[in-house]
Amino acid sequence: MVEAAERAQVLVEALPYIKRFHGQTMVVKVGGNAIGERKEETLLDLVLLRYVGMQPVLVHGGGPEITAMSQRLGIQAEFRNGLRVTDRQTMDVVKMVLTGKVSPDLVATLNRLGGQAVGMSGEDGPTVIAEPLDPELGLVGKVVQVNPEPITALLERGYIPVLASIGLGYDGQAYNINADTVAAEVAVALGAAKLILLTDVPGILDSSQRVVTELGRADGRRMLERGEVQGGMIPKLEACLRALDAVPQAHIIDGRQPHSLLLELFTESGVGTMVVR
Ligand code: ARG
Repeated sequence: MVEAAERAQVLVEALPYIKRFHGQTMVVKVGGNAIGERKEETLLDLVLLRYVGMQPVLVHGGGPEITAMSQRLGIQAEFRNGLRVTDRQTMDVVKMVLTGKVSPDLVATLNRLGGQAVGMSGEDGPTVIAEPLDPELGLVGKVVQVNPEPITALLERGYIPVLASIGLGYDGQAYNINADTVAAEVAVALGAAKLILLTDVPGILDSSQRVVTELGRADGRRMLERGEVQGGMIPKLEACLRALDAVPQAHIIDGRQPHSLLLELFTESGVGTMVVR
């Protein structure tokens, strides 16, 4: 059992951060993999952030769920450089899964936990304007512009916006966009205090596989250039570096660790990697 004095200490340690981040927007991104086992804890953390005066925005993808549903429908998932080749039929599945399943599930859980969440897609508003990333990938989009107004309108009324990573093209077509990218662009457009990416690794690792607690922008760029970050961590670090154009701090934390969000935000040492200017 934790002693009463220790428990009080935990709350006292959190106070400077609660003060500093009061009224500030925090863009939190969860992926299908990271949210899996610790969904309840993560969403509870988000509700807590809201109730201590912050303005969390949840951005989500849903890769594994999309792949699973495609399989059930007999559609073969095809990837190039980690990106899902998205034809019209696959885009229908992406839309159905993200806005018909993943988002309502997150929203329902947040609401059950007292969070007052509202789900939306980047197409709503529209909030996220997209353009094709590469003709070979079909309807995979890149973000051209974010109109933050629909999100801020919800935040002002006390809601937690839950945004699916879909964008609307000038051609009226929906585009499938990487959720880390959407989260970074949304954080920039909102002038957020933080971008926080929940993933399924402890953070950015150095050559001896230890978590890099804090990383400067220039060092982050260097790690990318030298190929010192691999696989799925590359787009995450890129998203953090992009966010730093307007956001002071971007974090990569382990969504599998219970309450990693609270530990990162409300303790001095944090638990993951903090990327700073
Ligand atoms: N709680 C503080 C913040 O969110 C510090 C976090 C430090 N985290 C780290 N990985 N070094 O700003």
